[in-house]
Amino acid sequence: MWPRTLHVELDERSYPIQIGEGLLQQAATLLQDVGILPGRSLFIVTDENVAPLYLSPLVSQLETAGYRVASCVIEAGEQSKSLAVYERVMTASIEAGLDRKSALLALGGGVVGDLAGFVAATFMRGIDFVQVPTTLLAHDSSVGGKVAINHPLGKNLIGAFHQPRMVLYDTAALRSLPKREVAAGFAEVIKHGLISDERFVTWLEEHADELWQLHSEYVAEAIQRGCAVKAAIVSADETEQGMRALLNLGHTFGHAFEALSDYARLNHGEAISIGMCLAAKTAERMGLADRGVYERTARVLRRFHLPTEWPKPFDPIQVLTVMKRDKKTVSGKLALVLPRAIGRVELVKEIEESLILEIMREEWGK
Ligand SMILES: NC(=O)c1ccc[n+]([C@@H]2O[C@H](COP(=O)([O-])OP(=O)(O)OC[C@H]3O[C@@H](n4cnc5c(N)ncnc54)[C@H](O)[C@@H]3O)[C@@H](O)[C@H]2O)c1
Ligand SMILES: [Zn+2]
Repeated sequence: MWPRTLHVELDERSYPIQIGEGLLQQAATLLQDVGILPGRSLFIVTDENVAPLYLSPLVSQLETAGYRVASCVIEAGEQSKSLAVYERVMTASIEAGLDRKSALLALGGGVVGDLAGFVAATFMRGIDFVQVPTTLLAHDSSVGGKVAINHPLGKNLIGAFHQPRMVLYDTAALRSLPKREVAAGFAEVIKHGLISDERFVTWLEEHADELWQLHSEYVAEAIQRGCAVKAAIVSADETEQGMRALLNLGHTFGHAFEALSDYARLNHGEAISIGMCLAAKTAERMGLADRGVYERTARVLRRFHLPTEWPKPFDPIQVLTVMKRDKKTVSGKLALVLPRAIGRVELVKEIEESLILEIMREEWGK
């Protein structure tokens, strides 16, 4: 199968996203295509779940092609996006003898991508970086150049914009993913449809079974279309001055649920799935969206085994308090990305808190 290629247009920082079945086996050739040539040293960052599955064949292939390769395996999970693990990876990079011409490969999900990307952004003021995502959710995190680690006081507070030289997406790697992670990834895929492409949502509904079974042709198309929505928005607004906020559909509610569950009970995809339903309800109640937008939003999310109901026992007041810490809040006034229709959203400022509370209380009381 030929890879599907999508270009993220960012002038001299433009890069390709290559998507296809078995693409990891072509890593050496694809690196050369973007000018990362044999002889250079490569440093692969991955986690303890991904390493036993995909690391050693990748290392052998790259060494055979003439690269010098070193690697570092971090613990799996959000807690690795920390200053301590950042320092450990930095130390390993220095000890491996990396220099300005070296390239760093992030082999894993969004955690590895965000952490390794931040190492690449800051090692000797920035070295080349290639994203090799192995989760479906990472179709979102690997595009756009946002890289970050967490501070004990908040998520992604320490970070940078650092665009990769390439994204290399092997759809075969998704088959080892736990189903709960597959569902979480589909939450972001669906989000990309709900933001800007009604036909994409229809296509997701029509092919939900094949997609859930991870048929490679369908999954590759879903990733390509999801990445295309994100890439178009990022190209128009690389450093999040305006339009990029639209990618936050469902995220203001979702981040509050994640924070209140200590990033444990609900994963990111599950939290934003419920968040997108609440956003649709809010939009209908405000008369911004036609009736039926909520129903269809919830239906497509359920097809991908995602939760759509209020996560008990969260208290609406607590949720609202956390929501107001969101970056979109200006002068204490809540702003939310809300749907006008399926495939069309807008940033609505100065939302009435009483309305949000009312909707949340109804959900809570159900
Ligand atoms: N930078 C961005 O723009 C952006 C956007 C969205 C999310 N994110 C970040 O992404 C992170 C979440 O990413 P994620 O959901 O990919 O989480 P993750 O990286 O923690 O991966 C989820 C789990 O799946 C395992 N795993 C990964 N690939 C596997 C495979 N092929 N087979 C078996 N197991 C595998 C991992 O070890 C982990 O346990 C969060 O930290 C979030 O902040 C960043
Ligand atoms: Zn997200």
